[in-house]
Amino acid sequence: MGIYVWGTGCGASELISRGLEIRRISAFVDSFPQGRDFLGRPVLRPEELPVNNCELLIVSSRHSGEIAGQCNRLGLARERILFLKNHCRLEDMNASCTAAEKLLGGELLARLLPRQMVISTPELLSSSALPESELSGDYVRLSALELICRRLDSKVPGAAAELGVYRGDFARCINRLLPERKLYLFDSFSGFEPGDGAEPAFQAAHENTGAQAVLERMPHPDMVRLYPGYFPASLNGLEERFCLVSLDVDFARPTLEGLRWFWPRLNAGGCLLLHDWGNPELPGVAQALEQYEAELGSHIPSLPLPDMKGSLALCK
Ligand SMILES: C[S@@+](CC[C@H](N)C(=O)[O-])C[C@H]1O[C@@H](n2cnc3c(N)ncnc32)[C@H](O)[C@@H]1O
Repeated sequence: MGIYVWGTGCGASELISRGLEIRRISAFVDSFPQGRDFLGRPVLRPEELPVNNCELLIVSSRHSGEIAGQCNRLGLARERILFLKNHCRLEDMNASCTAAEKLLGGELLARLLPRQMVISTPELLSSSALPESELSGDYVRLSALELICRRLDSKVPGAAAELGVYRGDFARCINRLLPERKLYLFDSFSGFEPGDGAEPAFQAAHENTGAQAVLERMPHPDMVRLYPGYFPASLNGLEERFCLVSLDVDFARPTLEGLRWFWPRLNAGGCLLLHDWGNPELPGVAQALEQYEAELGSHIPSLPLPDMKGSLALCK
């Protein structure tokens, strides 16, 4: 019975430098071994792995998905596999691994894991509080929000805001990540303004919401300020400065109105997330940005995000 390590590259060597004693490793496993031993331990081909004796397999290679498939074919249960590099996958590949904590202990496990991942599974995604919504499958959008909030935190002053809230899925993530900031939420809570281009079915799909229901879903409702009604009339003379704005209203006219109002009020170092900028089904969003930049007479520095709908992070 013992611990096996898949991979004989620098990831495997790092395990040792982080505190996993070489004497605890029974053997290494590699599909393309460079030799028959590594760091004084034997190197096995995958088919040579003694599955019944393997209490824990630590996968140090980047090819987590393929190795998971190979282990499945070999009959090694996921409870006994720890993947060191599984970020950027939607599933948490270590969710069912029970052997690692048992064999290594929490302290050593923490030393082996975190520096290998930028962000393991976004905190928001792994949170049981997030209901089933399209958003919960969007690893990149959630990870980006988590990292952007980390970057803004305490360094850029101002409130947070979302224009286009619907049922509050994204808003509740902002509220959770920036619990000490006021969060302004703007939505008609009855869909799109007539004439903006929403087909009847699209309009109907956005009517099942309400300001009170959204407020009740917020983890820090005391920080939330609701502005129901069509934007920009709903502003009612509001003045505020922002560090983070989510702009998600699907069509050209409200997007342009949102850019005109929020961009000048975004503080230096702040970020405006323009959802659907790269979404071919909603071309009005990118057109509105083009028009706004023409009005400004300058190109806004930005970073496209490869999330499900092609958000654009506009940076001040
Ligand atoms: C795609 S949904 C927002 C989804 C939300 N951001 C999320 O990620 O869960 C778009 C929302 O924009 C709102 N909206 C569109 N035009 C608007 C306007 N002129 N004023 C207020 N709300 C508007 C609609 O009511 C709808 O709820």
